[in-house]
Amino acid sequence: MSEESEGELEARLPEGESFEPPESFVEQANVTDESIYEEFEENWPDCWERAADLLDWEASYDQVLEDGDAPFYEWFADGTLNASYNCLDRHVEDGRGDEAAIEWVGEPTDETRTYTYQELLDEVQEFAAALRALGVEEDDVVTLYMPMIPELPVAMLACARIGAPHSVVFAGFSADALATRMNSADSEYLVTCDGYYRRGDPLNHKDKADDGLGSVDHGVETVVVDRLGDELEHDLGDRQRGYDELVGEHAGATVDPVTRDAEDMLFLMYTSGTTGKPKGVKHTTGGYLSYVAWTSHAVLDVKPEDTYWCSADIGWITGHSYIVYGPLALGTSTVMYEGTPDYPEKDRLWEIVDDYDVTQLYTAPTAIRAFMKWGEDYPARHDLSSLRLLGTVGEPINPRAWKWYYKHIGDESCPVVDTWWQTETGGMMITTLPGVGDMKPGSAGPPLPGVSANVVDTNGDDVEPGKAGYLTVDKPWPGMLRTLYHNDDRFIDEYWEEYSDEAAGEWVYFPEDGAKIDDDGYITVLGRVDDVINVSGHRLGTMELESAIVGVEGVAEAAVVGGDHDIKGEAVYAYAITEDGYEGDDDLRERVVEGVEDAIGPIARPEAVIFSPELPKTRSGKIMRRLLEDIANGDELGNTSTLRNPEVVDDIAGKVSDD
Ligand code: WT7
Repeated sequence: MSEESEGELEARLPEGESFEPPESFVEQANVTDESIYEEFEENWPDCWERAADLLDWEASYDQVLEDGDAPFYEWFADGTLNASYNCLDRHVEDGRGDEAAIEWVGEPTDETRTYTYQELLDEVQEFAAALRALGVEEDDVVTLYMPMIPELPVAMLACARIGAPHSVVFAGFSADALATRMNSADSEYLVTCDGYYRRGDPLNHKDKADDGLGSVDHGVETVVVDRLGDELEHDLGDRQRGYDELVGEHAGATVDPVTRDAEDMLFLMYTSGTTGKPKGVKHTTGGYLSYVAWTSHAVLDVKPEDTYWCSADIGWITGHSYIVYGPLALGTSTVMYEGTPDYPEKDRLWEIVDDYDVTQLYTAPTAIRAFMKWGEDYPARHDLSSLRLLGTVGEPINPRAWKWYYKHIGDESCPVVDTWWQTETGGMMITTLPGVGDMKPGSAGPPLPGVSANVVDTNGDDVEPGKAGYLTVDKPWPGMLRTLYHNDDRFIDEYWEEYSDEAAGEWVYFPEDGAKIDDDGYITVLGRVDDVINVSGHRLGTMELESAIVGVEGVAEAAVVGGDHDIKGEAVYAYAITEDGYEGDDDLRERVVEGVEDAIGPIARPEAVIFSPELPKTRSGKIMRRLLEDIANGDELGNTSTLRNPEVVDDIAGKVSDD
């Protein structure tokens, strides 16, 4: 981008200014009436019927919220429904079977597939029949270790159809990460594929899956999708079946959607936390599906006739909620792209928006910062006028990136929704309603109607506007996690212990984010306050990273922190102490990087590995992470006098600046 145009924009859109929703957008928006905030507050929790009403229920629920066993809340209890029916059958029954459900765009530019609602329903039924034939029963957890290929949403919906919760493991995760998750969920079924394309080259995926299976402590039936055909040969082992063959055996099958209770598990999604073990976040059928349908309607302004695109990976919660379940529940066309934004050229996303007349684009700040760096000429090559709304999620967005997105992608005529939420919340919690509220670049906005979020100090008291504090949520919401799989105690410890007053029956959810609030009630989320690093919008636990590093031969101790990164937001900085007899040389550095990739995956690859004879520790023996962060960022170092070993600081700082 030229310096000039950026300066021009800054002048026109000075910081701190707010933007009204564009008139052209408001005229057609799903939600336009400001009174919705008041209405939800007055009618809480019954206001959430409005979300449930977006679905078709087999049996209606008796009660909106059951809070007798808080914080194990239940939503729409005794209601019954099926998620796959809501995402497929009902649209076909409405005569919309010929309309596109999924517009799949392969990485190779000549490869695309459109699934109409009827076609998607047919394949989902065939695969549901196949899963049953393999032995899958209601409530069995099926692990899906797949990249962005259409068989992934097919498998998710097939699971939902027969009441088998899925656990999707991001394809970029390692074999070890797959095995940990399969063991933790006692999952006896795996759907995976031979491989996929990355920047033009076929990438083997099945070897990784097989490796992972080697560490699973029970028997597993595996289905393998043939994504790459002749490009990559693969063999099927014992208890492994090919997807095409299996689906072929069930061609034309019909499988009735099973009746699920609202509170029955729809899926599990593992995410990183403070301790080394990933947490299995449990989401339910009624509350989750209502919530993602509602937020897709109210925030993303999804309408059946739209071609909506969320560029996340389905391996993360964003893809579950806003590529698959939310958009399909509303009967729209959802775009699914296999590749990366810069292949074969840095205008690939804009080409897709242009080709498909995409109406909403939902992406991440890390992507926007990359687009900014590549420059405005790439989007300028294409007609982006079909866009009506832009969204971002995953990490704080800096006002400069927000404004670039607003101007160069949205042509100043699309509202930008900066949506704060988490794997655990199921769907969006804090953002402006695009047809109602003014936008303030850098601030997510007020909590959504019916959501009660606050910024508090360590005592739980509201902090003054402008001051940093901790984000809390003091009322439940339908999309909330119900527990951590097989671990109710950890569920309470991780999210409820900090700010709740159990004796008084007041339960307060703590998302472990820092935040500030302004006079208008707009919340700016400042980032994690636990030991979680947010790399390109992906959550990585420092404990998981550290245990991977100390698992490397020659490493005695490790500390991992997040350092600032222009594109990724944060990057992994690893500090390691060598064992006696080992040198902190390039060989060991390489092995540390490999250790991390093996334990987690390439997304966790450290930006730098710094060897040091000691780590800075307090007198009580705690590693001073803050100091290590300052060192990683090249910031001025704070007070080091409380350290037991202040002399190591200069030594480490010297090594980082040499790098
Ligand atoms: C963490 C949750 C929600 C799907 C993607 C990430 C950070 C998320 C924002 C935002 C500032 C944000 C928070 C949160 N985060 N959205 N709009 N502004 N920070 O899901 O992996 O569960 O991570 O992402 O720190 O706690 P996740």
